[in-house]
Amino acid sequence: MKWKTRLTELLGCKYPIMEGAFAGIGTWEFAAAVSNTGAVGCLTASTSRTPEGLREEIQKLRKATKNPFTVNISIGFCPHIDGMFEVCFEEDVPAVETAAYRPDEYAERIKESGITWIHKGATVEFCKHAEKLGADAVVLVGLDGYGFKNIRQLPTFTSTAWAAPQLNVPLIAAGGIGDSRTFLGALFLGAEGVYLGSALMATKECPLSDKIKANIVEAQPNHPDLIRELLAPPIPKDLAEVLKMRDKISLEEWLVSLEKVMLKHPDWKDVDPKYLQELLSSKGTEVIELFPSLGTRPKGPFSFACGYINRIVTVKEFIENMVKGAEEILEKRAEQWELS
Ligand SMILES: Cc1cc2nc3c(=O)[nH]c(=O)nc-3n(C[C@H](O)[C@H](O)[C@H](O)COP(=O)(O)O)c2cc1C
Repeated sequence: MKWKTRLTELLGCKYPIMEGAFAGIGTWEFAAAVSNTGAVGCLTASTSRTPEGLREEIQKLRKATKNPFTVNISIGFCPHIDGMFEVCFEEDVPAVETAAYRPDEYAERIKESGITWIHKGATVEFCKHAEKLGADAVVLVGLDGYGFKNIRQLPTFTSTAWAAPQLNVPLIAAGGIGDSRTFLGALFLGAEGVYLGSALMATKECPLSDKIKANIVEAQPNHPDLIRELLAPPIPKDLAEVLKMRDKISLEEWLVSLEKVMLKHPDWKDVDPKYLQELLSSKGTEVIELFPSLGTRPKGPFSFACGYINRIVTVKEFIENMVKGAEEILEKRAEQWELS
């Protein structure tokens, strides 16, 4: 089967599947493993630390794969950001991916370079804004995904279906995607491709510790801690406070404060279970075990996509299983619905 979408046409890749950006672990080796499967690997510029480091990694990646890849530059986090962009332009990388904060300041230079530009945002408004600035494609991350949260962010299913008809450039869905069904689901919701973060982290080539990979395999997406971490919106009062501090402290300190606010949530364990049990029994409700002994959730930065990850495999096995599974579903449905 030929997986032709506007994303595969834009990047010249075999599959409409992209590797997510990973600060600290988005190395050239990991990106090469992804690109060599026919999906699109991602080199995360902040992982290379310096522009010269990035240049070396791009050159190594080019030797390790003939296939397209992206370079992620996370605005506000990536050090030496101007130098990182310059290296991307000089090395004429297949595509640059901006993320996190507004790309306005860099838009003109990226467009002048002629390099394919993908912007990743958390809301449809940010994606439309990037399209207006000239982005060639946008990644929209739903609430189900790992990363910063926006108070106007929607779950992946809703945000993909809502955004698709509002955008002219190809839309790539992200957030909690990690198996054949979520891959196909996103395409049917109107996306031209999918973007994988957590799901690729339990692969042999991912430079994470075995312990964290084991945690991803072990984790259940319905753990209350994980639900709160991913879905709890920031508390408006705290968010307002941190936004006021923007120009008063260093960017680094400010980003740490922002992250704390973004991931902050009331600790459900602080609620006295006896109080709730009494409340429920006094109303004649059957007392269910509201606070089962779940312990804390397995440690590691990952999303609901952990629910699809049952073992550690190579990147090649992972992508091939995902694609093969999707092809089988399509064949079965075509037969079932008598589509010819
Ligand atoms: C360990 C880790 C590091 C990440 N670092 C970055 C980063 O530096 N820049 C960025 O744009 N996104 C970063 N992300 C977010 C992912 O690129 C992606 O948007 C997110 O993981 C998608 O959700 P998913 O994990 O459900 O697939 C990171 C995600 C993880 C898990």
